[in-house]
Amino acid sequence: MNESAVERKRILTGDRPTGRLHLGHYVGSLKNRVALQQSHETILIVADLHMLTTKPTREDINQISDNVRGLVLDYLAAGIDPQQVTIYLQSAVFETYELNLLFEMLVTVNRLARIPSLKDMARAANMSDEEMPFGLLGYPVLQAADILLPRAHLVPVGKDNESHVEVTREIARRFNSLYGEVFPIPDVLVGEVPTLVGTDGRDKMSKSLGNCIFLSDDAATVTKKVRGMYTDPNRVRADIPGTIEGNPVFAYHDAFNPRGDEVADLKQRYRAGTVGDVEVKDKLAHALNEFLEPLRARYARYQAEPGLVDEIIVQGTQRMRETARATMKLVRTAMGLAGTWNRLTRAAERRQKKTTEVIP
Ligand code: TRP
Repeated sequence: MNESAVERKRILTGDRPTGRLHLGHYVGSLKNRVALQQSHETILIVADLHMLTTKPTREDINQISDNVRGLVLDYLAAGIDPQQVTIYLQSAVFETYELNLLFEMLVTVNRLARIPSLKDMARAANMSDEEMPFGLLGYPVLQAADILLPRAHLVPVGKDNESHVEVTREIARRFNSLYGEVFPIPDVLVGEVPTLVGTDGRDKMSKSLGNCIFLSDDAATVTKKVRGMYTDPNRVRADIPGTIEGNPVFAYHDAFNPRGDEVADLKQRYRAGTVGDVEVKDKLAHALNEFLEPLRARYARYQAEPGLVDEIIVQGTQRMRETARATMKLVRTAMGLAGTWNRLTRAAERRQKKTTEVIP
């Protein structure tokens, strides 16, 4: 069998277009997507419908276009190859809405109400439990529709999305047991650094906390943010022994500094109280800027050609529409839902052929 005859496994993953991507996104999921884009048929969803679960106003919607372009630019800068990967806009693939509705019958309200991340999202959007919209409760169901529409096998996501993929697996199993084997049971893949601490030392890098280093930050901004980073608060002078554990500066060194010996040396001197914060931070800023340099070159390249990013999304969406149509045919046939309409139309046609009489 030749190479091209081997079917590659499919990946479906993506993000809501709510803002630019940061280093936490990179180590949590983006790095895996870039690494797997050749071995897997990869589809990236720009999940604007999911954004509506917490941001449904006309103002929010008006921002989608800009956010979509920013997000896709971040993908491309991070090394996603648009020749290999399909990038599409969720709201423009109408089968999504259809599969979402059918999946709503295959999961209990109770099951969804137990997912902590949905309450976290509600809280982040300043909603009380009573204000939780039906659509936010259904967030993981819509996500299951995204993942199963291309019948994906693997979902590289950040840790916060792990529980949603579990719901997808349950829905796929339930569908298959009721109607026959249509869907693979997709696996989740979380990055080496599942959650990256914020620059302020809080447990995760998050736009709403304002503790991010963005992939699109320029060198001066990165250096400034690193200089202001939280370190060991007990270490008020460079000659006091410091703590590595839970120290965000060292967490970033571990994640982004390719020179392991330099990091080991800094840690050893930090513990001994023989290195200043400035040296540790300057070496980190250097490592981060070195890591971001190739991304900056790609930002410049894609930004120099107006319309290119838009074209990539439009072509990807058209490809995804075909995939979605094919899956929905399988779904309707498996469920027998197509049968009623087909019988009705066939009988109606037979009558029309026999008589020219209009409906009495
Ligand atoms: N829930 C993801 C987020 O936190 C976005 C998303 C929507 C997604 N549909 C998906 C991720 C399907 C992976 C697979 O932004």
